[in-house]
Amino acid sequence: MSHHDELIATDILGYLNAQENKSFLRFITCGSVDDGKSTLIGRLLYDSKLIYEDQLASIENDSKKSGTQGDNIDLALLVDGLAAEREQGITIDVAYRFFSTDKRKFIVADTPGHEQYTRNMATGASTADLAILLIDARYGVQVQTRRHAYIASLLGIRHIVCAINKMDLIDFSEDVHNKIESDFREFSKDLGFSDITCIPMSALDGDNVTSKSKRASWYQGPALLEHLETVDVDTGTLTSPFRLPVQWVNRPNLDFRGFSGTIASGTVNVGEEIIVLPSGKRSTVKEIITYDRNLDQAKEDQAVTITLEDEIDISRGDIICSKDHPAEQSDQFQAHLLWMSEKELFPGRQYLFKSTNKNLLASITRLKHKVNVNDLSLEPGRNLILNEVGVCTLSLSAPIAFDTYKNNRTTGSFILIDRHTNATVGVGMLDFSLRRAANVVWQELDVEKTQRAQLKHQKPAVLWFTGLSGSGKSTIANNVEKILFDMGRHTYILDGDNVRHGLNKDLGFTDADRVENIRRVSETAKLMTDAGLVTLVSFISPFRAERQIARSLLEENEFIEIHVNTPLEVAEARDVKGLYAKARAGKIKNFTGIDSEYQEPLNPEIVINTVDMTAEEAAERIVEYLKANGYLDTVA
Ligand code: ADX
Repeated sequence: MSHHDELIATDILGYLNAQENKSFLRFITCGSVDDGKSTLIGRLLYDSKLIYEDQLASIENDSKKSGTQGDNIDLALLVDGLAAEREQGITIDVAYRFFSTDKRKFIVADTPGHEQYTRNMATGASTADLAILLIDARYGVQVQTRRHAYIASLLGIRHIVCAINKMDLIDFSEDVHNKIESDFREFSKDLGFSDITCIPMSALDGDNVTSKSKRASWYQGPALLEHLETVDVDTGTLTSPFRLPVQWVNRPNLDFRGFSGTIASGTVNVGEEIIVLPSGKRSTVKEIITYDRNLDQAKEDQAVTITLEDEIDISRGDIICSKDHPAEQSDQFQAHLLWMSEKELFPGRQYLFKSTNKNLLASITRLKHKVNVNDLSLEPGRNLILNEVGVCTLSLSAPIAFDTYKNNRTTGSFILIDRHTNATVGVGMLDFSLRRAANVVWQELDVEKTQRAQLKHQKPAVLWFTGLSGSGKSTIANNVEKILFDMGRHTYILDGDNVRHGLNKDLGFTDADRVENIRRVSETAKLMTDAGLVTLVSFISPFRAERQIARSLLEENEFIEIHVNTPLEVAEARDVKGLYAKARAGKIKNFTGIDSEYQEPLNPEIVINTVDMTAEEAAERIVEYLKANGYLDTVA
């Protein structure tokens, strides 16, 4: 029943040829819940006769069961493939559809409109050329419209269609349409769109979807399908420099070594010279192999295996680049970041960083500002919450080869992953490398940590005391230091209250400030360890993630986590500083254990139960542990 039938039946080769030579358009649809996205795509497929009989039969069936259109076919069912969507009546994941007309092939990502699902939109938008923003004619440009337009622009989409839908409900009023169009153009004037096409339509009735509607006679422009078939979206990426992020090193035997991946941009030819980053090694392309044949040339989007004339070391995550236009390299960046997690982003916390095929550790070193999607103004902020976009500085555990997102949407983008839950929490775009930071090199010093420690005849270590306020951390740490001092050890105590009088004077007790508090004290403890000292850190340090970072800054066995495990009731009953009473009375906000979380250590080296033990006994136990584990051996 599709429009292809005739050609398929009479000239299958002609049909295949025509398919292969047709241009491709990737687009997304987005808008608020109930704007009618799924209905629109359904209408597009249905009216252009792109649905197969069996699909149609099953939709007719389903429409009767769970549709929302009475006896009519519910076109949204065509797209809302997921069971959960049908039950909840909203689209909850990205649904990709492939279809083609005589003029073009299309991939459409139907992305959800519900506020918390912005991340799915970002997923769909990252490969799209064009975005259809659905706007309910009755309500005009909404926060969601602005957010989605901004994200589309951020992700590099340059072509926008405003589908001003449900025009049937406002009598196809030209004035309303024009008002919405001018509102949208005004809002998006700085978003860098190369064209914006506004189309008055009714997806439900089919007006201006696949054919021009008589009900909007004042409208001079094309129907949606005609626009999609003809809009010029040549991105010029074929002429951008060659990049092949290596996904897999293919080595079936000693005689063959191929590098496989999907070409992110540009073209490559047999005999062409290439450079591999980050190693900087050069070679020449020997063969370009695909699943069915060898090629002389391959281009963007093709999955290939490349062999080289020379034996050079290449691993997964490296990028094979055109020799004349290699990617840049850096480990410090400015980036735009779209936050997609219920757990907010804190500068200083570490996340897994994934770009092309490379996995590293990253932390946001500074949030420069947030972007208000309503008016695109920049606002100060200390953290990012779900769906917020910020401009930040990013520091990686090692340099990567990259391009700016403006130049390359693949090698310029990344995702951040939570180290504990493995969930994707952010998607980002690299703006530029912070050259100043990249130019700061590590200065090699002649006297080393071991020598400094040797002079003191000791092994450096960090004793990290964590526990609730008033649990006894500082009292116990003080007793431990006295014993070590009497043994002739070189020590120092970093105490939360004291450090907050100087180095961390500018920090309060919000989650974001506590993360920064612990980041700074971790770095300080690392410096003291480098100086050869035994450092006692006494901070509530309520979050596992930051204690984990502190541990990872040091060498194995240098970090001893001591959980001063005093139950809240006991600490509160003692209330040495009178702070619990104030917190209960609401005079102190964000108090640990009351209205701010304390995450107990899962595998501390030492647990001190202060209910059964005095501070002196606790100190002795800790010193015993140090002795038993060789920390107090005298270094000759
Ligand atoms: S941490 O959570 O960031 O590690 P830190 O150990 O530096 O805290 O400081 C805790 C000390 O600050 C407490 O012992 C207490 O004396 C004081 N304090 C003041 N306000 C708070 C609060 N809201 N929560 C916890 N401690 C507080």
